[in-house]
Amino acid sequence: MKKEKIILTGDRPTGKLHIGHFVGSLKRRVELQNSGEFDKIFIMIADAQALTDNVDNPEKVRQNIIEVALDYLACGIDPTKSTIFIQSQIAELCELSFYYMNLVTVSRLQRNPTVKTEIQMRNFESSIPVGFFTYPISQAADITAFKATTVPVGEDQKPMLEQTNEIVRRFNHIYGDTLVEPEILLPDNAACLRLPGTDGKAKMSKSLGNCIYLSETADELQKKIKSMYTDPDHIRVQDPGKIEGNTVFTYLDAFCNDEHFGRYLNEYANLDELKAHYQRGGLGDMKVKKFLGAIMEEQLGPIRERRKEFEKDIPAIYEMLKKGCDDARAVAADTLADVRRAMKINYFEDTNFIAEQAKRFHD
Ligand code: TRP
Repeated sequence: MKKEKIILTGDRPTGKLHIGHFVGSLKRRVELQNSGEFDKIFIMIADAQALTDNVDNPEKVRQNIIEVALDYLACGIDPTKSTIFIQSQIAELCELSFYYMNLVTVSRLQRNPTVKTEIQMRNFESSIPVGFFTYPISQAADITAFKATTVPVGEDQKPMLEQTNEIVRRFNHIYGDTLVEPEILLPDNAACLRLPGTDGKAKMSKSLGNCIYLSETADELQKKIKSMYTDPDHIRVQDPGKIEGNTVFTYLDAFCNDEHFGRYLNEYANLDELKAHYQRGGLGDMKVKKFLGAIMEEQLGPIRERRKEFEKDIPAIYEMLKKGCDDARAVAADTLADVRRAMKINYFEDTNFIAEQAKRFHD
């Protein structure tokens, strides 16, 4: 039998999704979904993982599940092609994590770069919650439960995928070939790997107030673009400007293609020409920002409109999620059965085993 191609990916429901999520992964997921190349696609709202560092804020996580689901649907994730589900509703994932914990050392977790930065960011240092510390293991359970071959995510998830593969190899080595090693799928456009915030800071984050959300109104979107960080030394239009670290140009790298010039700025043939003019001097920030504004509205406008349509029937979305959970649970249960069999903890399923035991005591 040909090996199935399976996608699993997901997001923590700690806020609405922003354009960093979009260019970093969401857009790609929709393309992969519509390519028809994948046998199964699972998209998970990682509420249990969100709770690992939001223990005292369950309401936030609960409220954001529907926000994330709406963002998915608005971007074009189609529940008839992709299974959207909620992590906490799949108890099988906890059981898998419990067994995988034996395959990972504390020092290996401590070396996980993403965990390291997150510990610093949250000031956990000497009082790291165990659940938070072990979330890479639970993420390995998420991925392997669905026998995912492909995980489209942002660059920050690379260490998670590496840990997952170590767990898979260790498991298969000890218990026999059972789990599937997944492959990470990163954006091929460098600007999309980590889109900076509108203030030029490396990370787009709600607490820094430097996000552009997918559900932003048209006015809000243009306002945020107008106040974006550019080159602080580019004071007069005639001054030469810098492209490096200039957020507006980074966003153009992520969002714009040659056709956009024909539609919105036909004095230039492509981004290279625009950049060259900016570096030479004589091109004002406002003009570039207006261009970016037009491109982003073209991309986000339809997403915003679709979201509004989906918002009209919220109970239907919870129904869709419930069905997604049921479908996902069935798949995870199959993998868990494989795992239990491999680990020899399937006592009652294995009739030969009971017969053999009986013989051992009577011969
Ligand atoms: N860690 C991911 C994030 O912070 C969310 C996530 C949880 C995930 N489990 C996953 C992503 C499994 C891909 C695969 O966005």
